[in-house]
This record gives sequence, structure tokens and C-alpha cells, in this order.
Amino acid sequence: MRKQIAAANWKMNLNQQEAKDLLTNILDKLPKLTDNQQVVFSIPAIYLSNAVQQIGGISNVFVAAQNCHQNSNGAFTGEISAPMYSSVGVNHIVIGHSERREYFAESDVLLAEKVNAVLANNSTPIFCCGEPLAIREAGTQNAFVETQLINSLFHLTPEQLLKVVIAYEPIWAIGTGKTASSAQAQEIHAFIRSVLATKYGADIADQISILYGGSVKAANAVELFSQPDVDGGLVGGASLIATEFTAIINALQ
Ligand code: 13P
Repeated sequence: MRKQIAAANWKMNLNQQEAKDLLTNILDKLPKLTDNQQVVFSIPAIYLSNAVQQIGGISNVFVAAQNCHQNSNGAFTGEISAPMYSSVGVNHIVIGHSERREYFAESDVLLAEKVNAVLANNSTPIFCCGEPLAIREAGTQNAFVETQLINSLFHLTPEQLLKVVIAYEPIWAIGTGKTASSAQAQEIHAFIRSVLATKYGADIADQISILYGGSVKAANAVELFSQPDVDGGLVGGASLIATEFTAIINALQ
């Protein structure tokens, strides 16, 4: 059975005390997770070590970095590598968020290298894909997302792919309050799974968690997560409010 995952993406928000308090408030109300449920906190790099301590090894609760460099070390001032993250207990890394693609010009080819770096380190990439509004309006979102998957993931072996979590985040739904309907989410998640199945076989495609991201909140999480191919969410704004994110965790199937 594939994992159902509630992943917070704090992006570049909160000071140290606020980050600590938010995590405390969420952990205080954390429900007992089943074996196939996970909670992930993708938080600013500077707070990761503290968060690892705070979580203290609660099972199925993880922290994630929001990006990493494609090399493991070297003269890359200001960058942080996957092995550095795992040395402080961080074994999940978000790769290819649309904000990284847009504001930091991260290409599919670069993201393939970053996915490789994460996997080479035995960590879990949370690989983001998703189309901008113009592509959705043109009705070509499937081809757009398929190209992202082919360019950044399809060089992987089946064993490697099984370590990847995919997050589908339509850019027009990020931070806009405009959520994809559960039917729209299900349709493209099923399409993503079919693309994976064509390349890797249905057996493998069935085991890959595909998260939905884009204005997920307490009020829509139950319906989104009840879709058969929606395996949880990658949550921005609502993950900064303890009661909201707790309700989203409780919405996991
Ligand atoms: P919002 O939930 O704020 O729309 O952000 C989604 C997102 O980008 C998560 O990575």
C-alpha cells in the first residue's frame, strides 16, 4: 500500500521562535499515524537541526530540506548538499518546486541531477511538477507534466523511482486560494500514474505516492485526499497555522 503523506512546505517564513512554537503546537496534537501515513515538514534549512531534535524520532514524522545542490561538496558558496543534510538527520529533500524553477531558473536537466544527488545519498526526493495557468487554459497540462517527468525522472531505474515521492502542484493554484477541484486533481494524478505505468509497469506506478499541492487547507483536504490517486498533500500557507495543518494531517486516508 502506498504511503499517504501530509507534507508542510513552510517556504521562506517564520523566525526561529515561531518555527519552534509552530512545530510544538502541531506535534502536541499529532494523531497516532498508521504504518502507511507520514508527516513531513519541509522547512528553512537553518531550522532543520532544531526540528530534528524537537521531533525526536517520532515514527513516520520527518523533516525535509526545500532544495539541495547537485554536487556533494566543493566550492559552491552558499549551497548545501544532500550528504550535509543527512548528516544532521534530514533524509527528505524537495526538488523542483515551481518557485525554484521560476525564481532560480532550475531546468528539468538540473533537476534530474539534483534527483540523482538525493538518491545517491539514499535520501527521498519529493519531486514537484505542475503547469502554469496558460498551459491549463490551453488544455495541454498532461503533455506539459509528462515532459517534466520524462526529463527529470525517466532516467531512473525502477528501484530508484520507488524512492521518489511526486508532488503535483499546478502553479495557478499555489498561494492563490484557487484549488484544483478534486476531479481535476484526480484526473491528472491518474494521468501521472499512467505515464509512470507505461514506463515502469503498473506494479511500480501503484506504489508511488503522488501528493497534490496548491491551496490545500483543512476545508478541502478530506475531499482531495479521498480521491483514489491523491495520496496526500504538499501544503504551503495552511501549513503555517497549527490548527489547519493538524486538520490536514487528520484528513489523511
Ligand atoms: P499553498 O498551499 O500556499 O498554495 O502552496 C502550495 C505549495 O507551493 C506547496 O509547496
